[in-house]
Parts: sequence; structure tokens; C-alpha cells
Amino acid sequence: MRLVTKVIRVDPHAPDPQMLARVGRALAEGELVAFPTETVYGLGANAFCPQAVARIFEVKGRPSDNPLIVHVASPDEAMQVAEPDCSGRWRELARRFWPGPLSLVLPARPELPRMVTAGLSTVAVRMPRHPVALGLIRAAGRPVAAPSANRSGSPSPSRAEHVLADLEGRVEWVLDGGPCPVGVESTVLDLTTDPPTLLRPGGVCLEALQQAIGPVAVHPAVRVVTEGNGLAGPHGRPSEEPPRSPGMKYRHYAPRAPLWVLEGSPQAVARAVVERLREMGGGCVGLFLTRETAALVEKQLGELGPHVHLFVAGERDRPETVARRLFEGLRALDAAQPRVILAEGLPERGMGLAVTNRLRRASGGKVVRCDELPARTGPHGP
Ligand code: TXA
Ligand code: MG
Repeated sequence: MRLVTKVIRVDPHAPDPQMLARVGRALAEGELVAFPTETVYGLGANAFCPQAVARIFEVKGRPSDNPLIVHVASPDEAMQVAEPDCSGRWRELARRFWPGPLSLVLPARPELPRMVTAGLSTVAVRMPRHPVALGLIRAAGRPVAAPSANRSGSPSPSRAEHVLADLEGRVEWVLDGGPCPVGVESTVLDLTTDPPTLLRPGGVCLEALQQAIGPVAVHPAVRVVTEGNGLAGPHGRPSEEPPRSPGMKYRHYAPRAPLWVLEGSPQAVARAVVERLREMGGGCVGLFLTRETAALVEKQLGELGPHVHLFVAGERDRPETVARRLFEGLRALDAAQPRVILAEGLPERGMGLAVTNRLRRASGGKVVRCDELPARTGPHGP
């Protein structure tokens, strides 16, 4: 069924309280509202309204075994959907990182509809810090289940235009608060294990978590990419661990064009890009590169040519700048309908871990270690 989607422009720093009250009421009554958070746009439904939650899965085309994150306006509100972990670490993490881009997996309270958790006995909760998100949840007066507001499998939306491209006519409301400042999703940390396990790297980096609570295990799927359920890694190595976060097992963030991740020093990545461009002749290619590597490529080639679409992603030594425009870049390159997209992976430090994780997943495992390539061979695309 097609609806008329109401699009409202909002001031991201100071949203109008009357508007929030009106849309918050609609959300509480079961309508779907896409709204900006500091990470990406979310598609919100009243977490205690099973019909609204069911519609989220339907409009996203999301598999029903992939649970939703519940968004709350305070740590106390988190306890409406979750139980504290035995160690009490959640309090410390909430104190340090909430409001902010950290989702904590805790035991779920029995009252929470199981559709939200996809049948799991745990629930992921987070308190976002974006004024529109927080204001909306407060206005709704109850916890809000919200996955990223994209069609399942496509790159997450970091701008309202991305939400409309995927969901216009399927949801009642889109609050347009401009670009999301972090650009990749929240970090998902499972507090039901000891030590806690990083299930998805995101807006709060691993190093910051370790500093706050000590050891954190990293689920193998964070670094080793899965193709379908085959769990083939960057080297084609299978991983033995089953996916703990159901979202891990799906190909994600993927543009339509096949995407290759090129990892290594800027020099090695630039060399691999240049060789691949020469091999491809006049074929249309999308490049997602940091400023530094793009400059090296341009220096070697002189001119890129009309068939090469370059998206300069940010600075290599400031991975947060790459994160901010990651999904925007993937969507923009895809719009040029290239035969292939070559994307530069980053060292897996700080926000580089989240960026490289998203790129590897968008590639479905097509990762090239450029430092290890013999000279004169590039990635072998389709
Ligand atoms: O930044 C974000 O987290 C954004 C904004 C809107 O807040 N939301 C988001 O939601 O990215 P979504 O649904 O696209 O991703 C949720 C991830 C999935 O990988 C899912 O498998 C995992 O969180 N997840 C949710 N509940 C879980 C649970 N109980 N146990 C393990 N993983 C869980
Ligand atoms: Mg998502």
C-alpha cells in the first residue's frame, strides 16, 4: 500500500517542540517515523506496538530474524525493555557514552514484544544524542524500536534524501534534519558475555570501550566478512563461530555495482587502482578514496577521464571524516552505474575499524591486500 509520506524539515540543533509533540503522538499511536540520529537515520515504531513493529520489517524488507535496536530517552527508560547485566557494566557504559552511538545488548524484559528482538531473549538498547531523536522519543513517551531507515541490504541512510529514495510512500513521516554527523551506525556491545563482546564496530570506538571497562572480546565477524552464511573471510578462510548478532550474516550496505575493498598503504592502494583503471580501458569505474590516495592516483594518471567517478571520502589519518561520508559516497557512486567500485579500506584503528567493516561487508568478501600484490596485477573484478 502506498501512503503519502509527510516530509518535515527540522532544525537539527533546536527542533520545534510543537512539531515533535505532534509527530511523537503519531509514533506512539502506531505510525512509522523516520528521523535523524547522530549515526544514521532511523525508522521508528512504538516498541510496545506489535503491529507497528511488524510494519518496520515489511517496509524495509527485513528478514524477521534480525532484531531491532530499542531507542530510549534516558537510562531509566532502558529498564522498561531490558534487565541490568549481572556485572553492572551497563551503568558505567551508559554514564560514559549515553547519550551517544553505543547500543548495549542486555537481557530483555518479558513485557517487550518478541518481534522486536526477533525472538531472542536479549535486546539492544541505546540512548541517542541527536536532539531530534531524543526529543521525538521523549515526545512519544515510550521506547522506540528503530533500525536504519533504508531498504534491507542497501547502504544505510545518512541523509533524508537517502530515506526518501528507499522508503517514500511506505512510511507516514520523514523528519529531515540534514546529514548525520557520525555517518555510520552505533557500536553494538553484548553485555551478556564475560568479557563483553563487540558485535558491530560503530560510532564509539573499541579503544574507548576498553579504556572504560577493560577487556572486550571482538566477535570474529567484525573483521572477517561473511558471504551469505558461508562465512568466508578476506582470505577465503572460513570462520567457525556462528553469527551471534543475526545482522552479521547478511550482505549489507551494498551498492548494486560489485565493490572491491583495496587495503594497504596509500601507495600500494593507488598503484592497484591505477593498474585496474588501465586494465578496464574505458569501462565506467567508481572510486571511493581518501584525499591522500586520490592525489597519488591523479598524480600517476595525470587525468582520470570521463569514465572514472571519484568520491573523495575524507582524510586517511582522520577516519571519522571517512565514516561521516561513507554511505553517501557509496550511494553517489552507485548512481553513476559503474561496472565496478574500488574502495579504499582503512587501518582498523579508531573509527577505521567501523569503516573497513562496512566496506568489507558491502563487498561480500572481495578484499585485496594491496601490499601483498605482486607488481602489475590488480584485483580481478567480474
Ligand atoms: O546507529 C544505529 O544503531 C542505527 C540508528 C537508527 O540508531 N540503527 C541501526 O539499526 O543501525 P539496525 O537495525 O540497522 O542494526 C541493528 C543491529 C543489527 O546488526 C542487529 O543484528 C543487532 O543490531 N542487534 C539488535 N538486537 C540485537 C540483539 N539482541 N543481540 C545481538 N544483536 C542485536
Ligand atoms: Mg541497518
